[in-house]
Amino acid sequence: MPTASLWERTLTFFPQFLRALEEHCEPGATVTVIGASDGKFVLPLAKAGYDVIAVEQDPIALNGGEVLLPVSGIGYAPGLVERLEVANLRNQVRIVCSDFLEVAPPYVAADAVWTSCSWHYSANHRRPLSEFVRRMQQLVRPGGVFGAEFMMPVELRHQAIEHYTTPDRLTPFFGPPWNVLVTLQTNTFTEQAHVGQLQDHTHRMGLLIAHRLPN
Ligand SMILES: C[S@@+](CC[C@H](N)C(=O)[O-])C[C@H]1O[C@@H](n2cnc3c(N)ncnc32)[C@H](O)[C@@H]1O
Repeated sequence: MPTASLWERTLTFFPQFLRALEEHCEPGATVTVIGASDGKFVLPLAKAGYDVIAVEQDPIALNGGEVLLPVSGIGYAPGLVERLEVANLRNQVRIVCSDFLEVAPPYVAADAVWTSCSWHYSANHRRPLSEFVRRMQQLVRPGGVFGAEFMMPVELRHQAIEHYTTPDRLTPFFGPPWNVLVTLQTNTFTEQAHVGQLQDHTHRMGLLIAHRLPN
């Protein structure tokens, strides 16, 4: 029986990224997902026929295990590996269990790169956000696509952490050979409780999708 991602119900701009992929990349292109977690985006990409490289540092997200959930409390959650096996998609996905900031870029190079709400994780604050963004850019072959959705600052403490960013602060990184295709941002909205955030909470999210011009 198909399993659901722990992140299934959180807001995403992923359909806009898929559209850019279809427009700029060949069917069967390789897409690297940074912060792949249990596969909310990896499974649909593999199902759509893309080869996926999934980079994730959390072994429970990859291999499954006990997690603390709102309402139901501690329970078992399947990880990416199990979810791919159940969906018969394991052969299309290469999993890299590592901190992206420690992975050598050529190892995970691809036609497109996507990340969803990974930048603001506190483990990433030890390095400038620009390093994360540049590393993602380096993975994308000429002609390919960069996509990132990210948390924007909401609380006062976020103002001091550059990893809660905005489309305006990111666009200067996307001079030639990049062409920004779309930026979006939400107003503040209420996200329902989920793993890691056991109460309903307030977010503001942004999106940037860019095309790397062919050589
Ligand atoms: C908010 S969660 C994922 C939710 C998202 N909606 C999804 O399913 O893709 C972000 C994930 O990014 C991972 N992550 C954050 N920084 C990372 C890094 N430097 N390297 C690898 N994974 C990272 C976290 O471990 C977490 O699983």
